[in-house]
Amino acid sequence: LGDVYKRQNMDSCKITEDALSRLNNCDDPRLKEVMTSVITHLHGVVKEVEPTDEEWLQAINFLTQVGHWCDDKRQEFILLSDTLGVTMLVDTVTDPKPTGTTESTVLGPFHVHGAPNLPFGANISKGQTGEPTLVMGRVLSQNKLPIAGATVDVWQASAQGLYDVQEPERFPDMNLRAVFHTDKNGCFGFCTEKPAPYPVPTDGPVGTMLKALGRHAWRPAHLHFMISAEQHISLTTHLFVKGDPYLESDAVQAVKDSLIVDFSLSHDSAEADQFGLPTPYYKVQEDFVLATAN
Ligand code: BEZ
Ligand code: FE
Repeated sequence: LGDVYKRQNMDSCKITEDALSRLNNCDDPRLKEVMTSVITHLHGVVKEVEPTDEEWLQAINFLTQVGHWCDDKRQEFILLSDTLGVTMLVDTVTDPKPTGTTESTVLGPFHVHGAPNLPFGANISKGQTGEPTLVMGRVLSQNKLPIAGATVDVWQASAQGLYDVQEPERFPDMNLRAVFHTDKNGCFGFCTEKPAPYPVPTDGPVGTMLKALGRHAWRPAHLHFMISAEQHISLTTHLFVKGDPYLESDAVQAVKDSLIVDFSLSHDSAEADQFGLPTPYYKVQEDFVLATAN
């Protein structure tokens, strides 16, 4: 038995060696490096897990389903990467930003190009119910000087935990989305409704996977920001609502402590009047520091 086991083991090593040797003629060194790692790790998984034929077919069928669910409005592969922690791992290992700059986090699938350009103080909530909220902030450079004319692209789920694109028949087009430009002091500000926690889409194969793994699909309430300015590195990030029950177990592991902020209740009626908000309202104030581009 010992001999048989040894021979099988040697054969499986030989298959991996042989697969790797087939990269010898690849003249793209990075591609060769990446594929060496992919083949080594994939073979490692098979050697460790020893899948049956049916299990391997199940894996192939799962990935096929993930592909079938993708179109121009749905990217199930990104959702798979998000829910397996791969997206956040890529975020962490790529281009570490200088200390003092605002941390990045996942883009997610709900960003839409072409959101309306709105002026300072505009309300991005198109008549939906939800707790009134004022979001104010500045965009700063690494040396903490204000950046004028920075683009601040914001989007969020509603108080019902849904993005406009998820139920277009229920929500007005471009609800809870806008692009702002910072003033000469680097300031931007807008009114909105307080975001709510929501589950990532679970009607596809990733949802089936989460259920099979006994995992929940919830993300803590957050606002999305994509901020860009000339001569600076663009930043994709969130602000998370402090106290949210899902901060410790975000389905896509995207929470960073520095991005958790207070949505504090304000009774400032003068400010409420200035922005056309009822009192009380929630208020968030946060600065975003961009890294300098080389
Ligand atoms: C989002 O925050 O919009 C999101 C991120 C990753 C997966 C699903 C949704
Ligand atoms: Fe989101």
